[in-house]
Amino acid sequence: MSIGGVALSPAWAIADYLEVRNGHLSINGADALELIKQYGTPLFVFSESRIRTNIERLKHAAEVVDRPIKFCYASKANSNMAILKAVLEAGIDVEVNSGGELFKALRVGFRPDQIIFNGTSKSDEELDEAVRAGIYSINVDSIYEIGLVEETVKRLRAGGEQVAAARIALRLVPEIGTRSHLGLQTALLTSKFGISSSEVLDAFRRGLQNPHLVHVCGIHIHVGSQTPDVEPYAEAFRSMWEHLVKIHRETGHTLEHINLGGGIPVNYLRDRSQADQLPEHERDMLGAELEPSAVLSAALRVARESARDAEAEHLLENVTILLEPGRSVIADAGLVLTTVLNMKQRPETGDIWLLTDAGYNLMLSMNNYKWYYHLVSASRAGESHVSDYKVAGPLCDSGDVYFDIERCGRLPDYRRLPANVQPGEVLALLNSGAYSLAQMFPYNGRPLPAVVMTREDGSAHLARRRDSYEDLLTGDVW
Ligand SMILES: Cc1ncc(COP(=O)(O)O)c(C=O)c1O
Repeated sequence: MSIGGVALSPAWAIADYLEVRNGHLSINGADALELIKQYGTPLFVFSESRIRTNIERLKHAAEVVDRPIKFCYASKANSNMAILKAVLEAGIDVEVNSGGELFKALRVGFRPDQIIFNGTSKSDEELDEAVRAGIYSINVDSIYEIGLVEETVKRLRAGGEQVAAARIALRLVPEIGTRSHLGLQTALLTSKFGISSSEVLDAFRRGLQNPHLVHVCGIHIHVGSQTPDVEPYAEAFRSMWEHLVKIHRETGHTLEHINLGGGIPVNYLRDRSQADQLPEHERDMLGAELEPSAVLSAALRVARESARDAEAEHLLENVTILLEPGRSVIADAGLVLTTVLNMKQRPETGDIWLLTDAGYNLMLSMNNYKWYYHLVSASRAGESHVSDYKVAGPLCDSGDVYFDIERCGRLPDYRRLPANVQPGEVLALLNSGAYSLAQMFPYNGRPLPAVVMTREDGSAHLARRRDSYEDLLTGDVW
């Protein structure tokens, strides 16, 4: 791509991270084609420096609002151990959603006071593990669950273990809508999450009944993922803040933290060249730019107004604010390299089909949510991407396609790549680091792919080895 002989960076490029070098896609200086020579495709590639940059952006937001903010990376977005290590080293805390994620977080080196545990259906074993570890907060999802945590503490103590009262936060569901996909909204009364506003005070009274068993330390709302606007955050914060004040007035109990959840969006449409094929609301949501500092500023603004009116400024000064970002830490730090293995032309439609080795078993959200990942040629990254192709993965499922097979327009019908793509060409699905690796599965007997992490010096290290056929047998008994 050039104008008057001067090479232009494609719109998807990110300086010093995602670039075109020698015509190929380069990740932190590592040539995508060299990587696949060594590791094969499909291949996940992550950038350590991009993870760090994304976390610095969060820390900068804390400086802007001049408040201590506790950032807990939502490990459900990607809990590969090398990723967790990079997050730990970048200096933030972690949110887990299962005993398995808790196990991984502790194993990689997070301290218990750096961990919060969300989830609607925690098992006795998971609660045992969380209470035994003494984590920062178990976020309870119902009034019933408060009793489960109390029982856990009693059970462990009865077994001779000396555990402290469990720290719990109450997760609320205040009926706040966002402009994200319905399946990604979690603060609606139709969602399965949280305690309704009408029950909150009862829930707090219940939580305060047995302080030797549980300590109610916080309050939590997660409005959903890929939330493009500040308003839902401000509304959520106001709701939590008002509950905090009410509880203090009524019981004298002061909550230590307000947890505003995750959901800071990622701009999946930095390159808008295919966006004309998407409806406007989808474009707005997928192309959202929302600074974490704007989210925090808006939330604090409404809380300050309310605190002034209620003469409760001292409560606001002392409360810790938590954020649980997942997608915004890891999505644009990762991509998938895939090879075109086959092609065909349909005489009836004139469509040229490219069949790749990366299916929705690697990026389930492409199928579930019709999530858009920008596709470029890694082999010819610098060339104009103006030719239309139908692109599909290798799975034996007609839904394994890179367009919206239900014709609801949530994905472009065609992907634009350089002219004359042939089998052997390597393509890259950008911004695919979140909710991909963490959800992949070996459908159709496809061994799970390798993962590499690039460093700023252009070196690349294995972060997950490629599965073998033998791995496909793991766990099967016959
Ligand atoms: C409770 C909770 N916190 C945080 C997150 C992370 O959200 P995101 O990855 O959009 O930042 C999620 C995911 O939806 C969640 O359910």
